[in-house]
Amino acid sequence: MTKYPPPLDCVRTIAPYQPGKPIDELAREFSLDPSAIVKLASNENPLGCSKSVIEALGKELEEVARYPDGSGFELKRHLSAKLDIPPDYLILGNGSNDVLEIASIAFLDRERSAVYSEYCFVVNKLATQSRAAHGIEVPATNYGHDLARMLDAIQENTCVIFISNPNNPTGTFLSPRDILDFIEQVPEHILIILDEAYYELSLIHI
Ligand SMILES: Cc1ncc(COP(=O)(O)O)c(C=O)c1O
Repeated sequence: MTKYPPPLDCVRTIAPYQPGKPIDELAREFSLDPSAIVKLASNENPLGCSKSVIEALGKELEEVARYPDGSGFELKRHLSAKLDIPPDYLILGNGSNDVLEIASIAFLDRERSAVYSEYCFVVNKLATQSRAAHGIEVPATNYGHDLARMLDAIQENTCVIFISNPNNPTGTFLSPRDILDFIEQVPEHILIILDEAYYELSLIHI
């Protein structure tokens, strides 16, 4: 008999994320030159990062013996000036995945439900499942969010609605007008998470 309590069912049943194959592994498998492979998956920049980023990271290394500022005081100060909103409106995370997880911890549990679309970004489902919350998956239309159906799918206990725009993995896009109309119709007590991780691509559509 094991000494430890079993992990929660809602966590144990999560299927492990399958990350994209690293370039070196692909090159080995097919005997290719790694420098000739361009990896388009995983939201990585094949051109590398800018020199100023490398310089800033190098400078920060000198401070590595100290705890970082967990509340991101300076970063929030700059962002609030740039976006013209109070720093208290901002939440920082280790990538937007982290923010999706933080929101699910704050707003979901087994008494609550979350609405998301078929073919939505996988983390929406995983974050919902890991809180043992009820996930309401709404059938997609042309592989994209069907906002009318999502509105109809809202239940009494719905606390969160996830929308990714553009959507990953299907690349579908909702217009700002459609999103605003949707937001106006959703009851005010429901948190709408509008995830624009690929926002720069949506600028091409507008
Ligand atoms: C829609 C969407 N949201 C969030 C993320 C996570 O991004 P990050 O790398 O910032 O955690 C991704 C990454 O692919 C994404 O496609």
